[in-house]
Amino acid sequence: MSVSNVQHPIRARRVRFSYPLTMNRHYVDDDLIMSHAISMLSAVFPEGEEFFVKSVRHYSDDIADEALRSQVAGFIGQEITHGREHREINARLQDMGYPTWARERFTKRSLGLVYRAAPQRMSLAITAALEHYTATFAALLLSEPKARELITSAEVRKLLLWHAYEEVEHKAVAFDVYRHIGGSETLRIWAMRVTHLAFLGSLCAATTVSMLCDRAAYNPVRLARSVSALRGNPWFSRDLARELRTYHRRGFHPDENDTTHLLERWSAELFGDNGVLVPRVPRNRTEPGGHP
Ligand SMILES: [Fe+2]
Ligand SMILES: [Fe+2]
Repeated sequence: MSVSNVQHPIRARRVRFSYPLTMNRHYVDDDLIMSHAISMLSAVFPEGEEFFVKSVRHYSDDIADEALRSQVAGFIGQEITHGREHREINARLQDMGYPTWARERFTKRSLGLVYRAAPQRMSLAITAALEHYTATFAALLLSEPKARELITSAEVRKLLLWHAYEEVEHKAVAFDVYRHIGGSETLRIWAMRVTHLAFLGSLCAATTVSMLCDRAAYNPVRLARSVSALRGNPWFSRDLARELRTYHRRGFHPDENDTTHLLERWSAELFGDNGVLVPRVPRNRTEPGGHP
């Protein structure tokens, strides 16, 4: 059994966001593909994070290690809060014309089927694999100015930065629970291969369907501009694909990629004395599973 080698206390922070009444429909750099892809990604989170919570919570009574138990409690609190906030922005995106509710329903059905039909250990292995996805995307957002500049809506950027920060903070928790219960390397890597297909396949399909519902996507000039902008886009880079593939190596652990410097930097920028999220975190408020 191995517990995360970065013993960082994990706690849930209740953060409130308020989106402007009038938001540019293509709120990600006025770009068609990116706006639809980020919306379809956001639409997965509420049901996806509920699945993560259930998969990890199922084993919480089997965890003897105190430090890991405490991290699990923080992980659950954070994921519940993320799901809640993404549900709010998804409702806003639905009003703007993105089919987020259909995508939420589809995610609920698919993950519900996996949870009921597959062995519990498989659900946990898929959770650990998807947590590698979220942590990799999160680290990119926190470390790459170009990735942040694309999110031109200030409020959406704050939401994504907060979510990214906490994803990096708890990136090893589901993985450590999987190891703690004796999950095999073969199943872990196999679960990631299935996850690549299911996650990327469904994201591409949902983004296409979402674009088909958008009249602007039928403008050939805008569409061509959006396709050509994918070149040089850090969200579609080889480095990102390489980072995702590190999970396939036997013996891999999420803490191998040291992200402590990102947590230090963004802790000050988001939650420090003059942090941009300070006015949005209610004082003396601790979420379930959080630390005071
Ligand atoms: Fe999350
Ligand atoms: Fe997470």
